[in-house]
Formats: sequence, C-alpha cells, structure tokens
Amino acid sequence: MSLKKIDKNKIPQHIAVIMDGNGRWAKKRGMKREKGHRAGRKSVKKIVESCIELGIKNLTLYAFSTENWNRPKLEIDFLMQLLFLSLKDELKSLNKNNIRFETIGNLGMLPKKISTYLQKVKNETRKNSKLTLTLALSYGSRSEIVDVVREISDKVKNNIISSKNIDETVINNHLYTRNLPDVDLLIRTSGEKRISNFLLWQIAYSELYFTKKLWPDFRKKDLYRAIISYQNRERRFGKTSEQIK
Ligand code: IPE
Ligand code: IPE
Ligand code: MG
Repeated sequence: MSLKKIDKNKIPQHIAVIMDGNGRWAKKRGMKREKGHRAGRKSVKKIVESCIELGIKNLTLYAFSTENWNRPKLEIDFLMQLLFLSLKDELKSLNKNNIRFETIGNLGMLPKKISTYLQKVKNETRKNSKLTLTLALSYGSRSEIVDVVREISDKVKNNIISSKNIDETVINNHLYTRNLPDVDLLIRTSGEKRISNFLLWQIAYSELYFTKKLWPDFRKKDLYRAIISYQNRERRFGKTSEQIK
C-alpha cells in the first residue's frame, strides 16, 4: 500500500482515531497490559509524523475515556504516569515540528500534576500551526453534550442568547471541539466496530474506517490504507451521486 496512491488534493482535514487494542497486543505476547500501552506510544509518534508529511491539519486521538475511569486503579495510575512522561519527552519535539497541542475532555478529573503539565504544553505550543494534535483525555461525548447544554442554558437564563436562536452553529461553538473542523475520517483499530462515546456530534458525516490491526501494530502504511479507502468513497451528504459530479 503505497504513499503514491494517495491523492494529495483530497487529503482529509481532520482525522480522529480510537486507539484500541493495547491490552490484547500485550496479552498475545504473554505480557502485562501496561506493556501494550507503552508500545502504543510508538504508533502515536509514527502517525503524528505521517500526518505532518501528508499535510493533515488536525489529528484527534482518543487516549482515555470517561468510562476508562472504571478500570483497575493500577492501570489508571500507569496510564497517567505514561502520559506525563510522554508529554515531558515530547514537548521539545512538538515545538520543533510546529505542532500545536490541545486536549478535549474533563481535565478536572486528572491528577493535578498532569493537568498542570498539560496546560503548560498547550501554552508553549499554542503558536504552532502545522498540525493541531488533540488528545481526548477523560473524554466522553455524552458528558461533553451535557456541558454544552448547561452552558447554553445559563446563557439563555442570563439573556445572553435567546432560545429561538439556538441552532447547529451555536451548539458547534460550545463543543470542546469548537476550534476544530468536522471529522472527515474516523479510524478505530483492534477490530471493534463501535464508537465508545467518542465525538458523537462531530462524526455525524464522517467516513468510518475499522481495522483489525491492534494499536501498537498500527504504522504509517496502515494510515495510508485508511486514507486511500477514504479517498475512494463518494461523500454525498444526502445528495445524489449525479449532483456531486
Ligand atoms: C486502548 O487499548 C487504550 C485505552 C483504552 C487506554 P485497551 O487498553 O482498551 O486495549 P484492549 O481493548 O483491552 O485490547
Ligand atoms: C475506547 O476504548 C477508549 C479509548 C481508546 C481511549 P475502550 O477499550 O475503552 O472501549 P470499549 O470499552 O471496548 O468500548
Ligand atoms: Mg479496548
């Protein structure tokens, strides 16, 4: 599957990835789940690199869901520590590669040390413009929608906005992803075919791509495959095929 097959004029603007399968990757090798999470870091690096090479402007990675708080405490602690160390290791390289770092999710749930460091990385990369890399951390789409409803209701109560003016744009502008374009391509690894509470509103018209590859095995050529599949689809947005042509 080669890079040459990718049409440079039809590059998705925004790719989102549900990075799944770390635990199974480790289990297959008789290792602890933690090893799988650690191995997944390399995939993140490769995919970020690839997005830059291809000129993809936005990459959003699902790293930890609101539901993942229900995992064993030891695994959660490991994931938090891994996140912290990765951020520390990568801060320089984010700047060197002109990558803006962002997060979506409820950062208030994260350990203080981590939320403070996340804020620092965001501040120090905010002027970068090649790629916006967004990590979904303690993220759940339903909880995001609850936040949006709360925020808009407060504005209605305080006469900042009238309820009859609430439309899709207003809702878009209150989502955590308000500064991001719609997701063009959603990828999920590990063979599961579900969304697991990720970006429910934002993927209304995304192209979905599922692969059996486990996240720690996902490499550039797998991303190329996903993009080629995306480019071979006709995005009709409700219209007829003839209208598109
Ligand atoms: C994805 O891998 C990483 C996180 C959800 C944090 P999993 O840990 O879900 O791996 P599997 O699904 O058990 O194989
Ligand atoms: C989804 O993976 C969340 C992330 C990849 C961070 P899970 O492994 O938590 O999803 P389920 O539980 O299989 O739906
Ligand atoms: Mg999983």
